[in-house]
Amino acid sequence: MKHVQIAIDGPVAAGKGTVSRLVAERLGFLYVDTGAMYRVAALLALRAGVSWSDEERIAHLIREAKIAMRNPVEEERDGRQTTVLVNGEDVSWAIRTEEISRGSSAVAKHPQVRLELVKKQQAIARVQDVVMEGRDITFRVLPEAQLKIYLTADEAERARRRHEQLLERGQDVSYQEVLQELKDRDTQDMSRSVDPLHKTDDAWELDTSSMEIAEVVETVAAKVRELQAVEVE
Ligand code: DC
Repeated sequence: MKHVQIAIDGPVAAGKGTVSRLVAERLGFLYVDTGAMYRVAALLALRAGVSWSDEERIAHLIREAKIAMRNPVEEERDGRQTTVLVNGEDVSWAIRTEEISRGSSAVAKHPQVRLELVKKQQAIARVQDVVMEGRDITFRVLPEAQLKIYLTADEAERARRRHEQLLERGQDVSYQEVLQELKDRDTQDMSRSVDPLHKTDDAWELDTSSMEIAEVVETVAAKVRELQAVEVE
């Protein structure tokens, strides 16, 4: 049987993580945060003293590492959306710093890095139903997805949400710094030469600026149920 694929793309802090996790939970699918994989690539480089620009060595580090992801189990429910293990070590929080945010966007420019990670993402979606989110899921990783969504929100609203999140985690950053980092990263992700973030013609655009999370989740889940009903007929 063909597995269900829900593909979600969108800019920084549009709410992709929260929405995807809740939709996955509701439907019993696996939530796959592909940004976490680019973050792992940046973390591996940082720890190995490898520059963000060293494409060859970063691709090698990814090939050598054993990266595993799962929906958080009971004792891991500490506010995280997903659990990420690298060679058995839980790096779910280590990949959430501002330094790693910038690094992940920098390493994501490299074709070899993307090739390695896209292969892993496609392998995951072959064996289970997924809600997968990132920047190239609707057109590169899962071009055949049954449902494609481009999730977005106003820049100021996204920065406000991200800032609040970072403060809650005890990270000391100003709103202006968060806004600037968000703008820089969006520009980088939308202008890189390989698979830049964009909205595809067949993606459903959802602007979450003035929507409650629960409303977005309900809207998406209803769309999936509609789709599944059609498939049964
Ligand atoms: O979703 P995120 O903020 O955790 O992603 C971190 C970076 O990884 C993002 O700035 C760009 C890159 N990325 C990508 O290029 N392709 C993806 N499918 C997911 C993330």
